[in-house]
Amino acid sequence: MRAMIIAGNWKMNKTNAEAVELARALIDVVGNREHPRVVICPPFTALSEVGKVLDGSRILLGAQNLYPAPSGAYTGEISPAMLLTTGVTYVILGHSERREYFAETDAIVNAKVKLALGSGLRPIVCVGEKLKEREAEQTERVVGGQIDGSLADLGPDEIAKAVIAYEPVWAIGTGKTATPEMAQEVHAFIRGRLMARFGGVADSVTIQYGGSMKPENAAGLLSQPDIDGGLIGGASLKADKFAKIVDSV
Ligand code: PGA
Repeated sequence: MRAMIIAGNWKMNKTNAEAVELARALIDVVGNREHPRVVICPPFTALSEVGKVLDGSRILLGAQNLYPAPSGAYTGEISPAMLLTTGVTYVILGHSERREYFAETDAIVNAKVKLALGSGLRPIVCVGEKLKEREAEQTERVVGGQIDGSLADLGPDEIAKAVIAYEPVWAIGTGKTATPEMAQEVHAFIRGRLMARFGGVADSVTIQYGGSMKPENAAGLLSQPDIDGGLIGGASLKADKFAKIVDSV
């Protein structure tokens, strides 16, 4: 059985005091959940404090990025070892906002994924097509290419530790969600691609959906056979909304 994972991507939101307040509120509502697995990804600055707050709860800590080198002269960047000291177990990599605003290529994402896995972190690898690409019926070509490129040179044992997040770019932060059927179609395609490359382990890989997931549409999406959780942006910033999504699993 693959793990169902609901992860909150807080993006560039929450000062430390606000982050601690939200983490405490989340512990009250979903702090003891074993199923689904709950992960929250605050900004770097709040990881340490939120990590302490989460101690003793079942909520896991995630980061939103890392730099693909163990240490060195990379001004402004954060290494896997630094993340590990704050209690991080998951790290979002290749989010479409990173690909778009910070020019992250599949090769860069791949380097990050490899170092994350080599450091004992579980990557949440994001893929997804833009609206123009969907309209031009290029979704499978684009998503397939991102899967191949971002996961290059990995073996089945490594894939078993990774999470994939399918996030159609046109659905992120726009209020437009893929229908459950549209999302399921791409999730099944992704699993097939993983199966062809890595074999039966693909069956145990968690594939999350992301893009305007909210309490109103979560149950429909999460009931699809190949949708194994969600990566939630906007709706993860309010404890009650996020808890409702967790509850709809
Ligand atoms: P959203 O963001 O839920 O606000 O659309 C999802 C994401 O970017 O991970």
